[in-house]
Amino acid sequence: MERKGKALTLSVFGRRKRDGQKLVVLTAYDLTSALIAAAGGVDAILVGDSVGMVVLGHESTLPVTMDDMVHHCRAVARAQPRVPIIADMPYGSFHVSVEDSVANALRLIKEGGAHAVKVEGGRHREAVVRALVAAEIPVMGHLGLTPQSVNRLGGYKVQGRGAAAAAELRQEAALLAEWGCFALVLECVPSVLAAAVSEEIGVPTVGIGAGAGCDGQVLVFHDMLGLFTGLKPKFVKRYADLGEAARKAVAQYAQEVRDGDFPGPEHHYDDQPAVAKDGSAANVSGQSGYLGDVEKE
Ligand code: KIV
Repeated sequence: MERKGKALTLSVFGRRKRDGQKLVVLTAYDLTSALIAAAGGVDAILVGDSVGMVVLGHESTLPVTMDDMVHHCRAVARAQPRVPIIADMPYGSFHVSVEDSVANALRLIKEGGAHAVKVEGGRHREAVVRALVAAEIPVMGHLGLTPQSVNRLGGYKVQGRGAAAAAELRQEAALLAEWGCFALVLECVPSVLAAAVSEEIGVPTVGIGAGAGCDGQVLVFHDMLGLFTGLKPKFVKRYADLGEAARKAVAQYAQEVRDGDFPGPEHHYDDQPAVAKDGSAANVSGQSGYLGDVEKE
């Protein structure tokens, strides 16, 4: 679905919840993924710190830096996706001081072109969330499996199982909403718990591995398209196997170059430009593509 008409703003989050319509969020990290996400009709783009794993090759999200996030946010913003862009605050960017956290979040907005930031964690984030909200920076919370806590959690495990953990997560969700978060990601929590939280709090929940009771869903671009095969959590649905298609395409390219089948006559230039019937140079400018102005004869 190509989005026509008015650009969406962050108000889409509250509106979808009020109207009982599901929110659709997808990660993107660069121009191409953002253009695809927007053309597919998502409601919002998350520039997740998952970029560290699916694009930058780290084993976890922990090494991702503020500079990485600003760089990728800017690429997404250049796509002008006409939907809100939410940028993850990377590990370390909101752990030192409140002042530091606000300055880092402002970079994502001012330099990165994001409309909001996402902060992982619950009750320990009170001062940071309140300060960001006071600085006019919309904040999305993130509870459950928070990948930046991988060392403390001892791995990537389902969270909120058992009465005590579930009660704690429900309280933290209510607190994040009270401090002013406009939405919450719930990652890898039992579906009954996510559904209960979604009923209880006034702001929308966006689930990943949290079942159908959430107010919306988010997936990682490379996971849903089968481009990243390093990990395949149960909650990922593969909507396409572009990784396999890409590997086949590269193998065919390699074969054709080696066999002398590529480039063919249609891919090369003659020493004189072709002339169109009306006598003008048959130069097609304004083509989409990164070399759109190169002669197409
Ligand atoms: O970094 C990310 O992509 C995320 C989503 C999985 C919610 O935080």
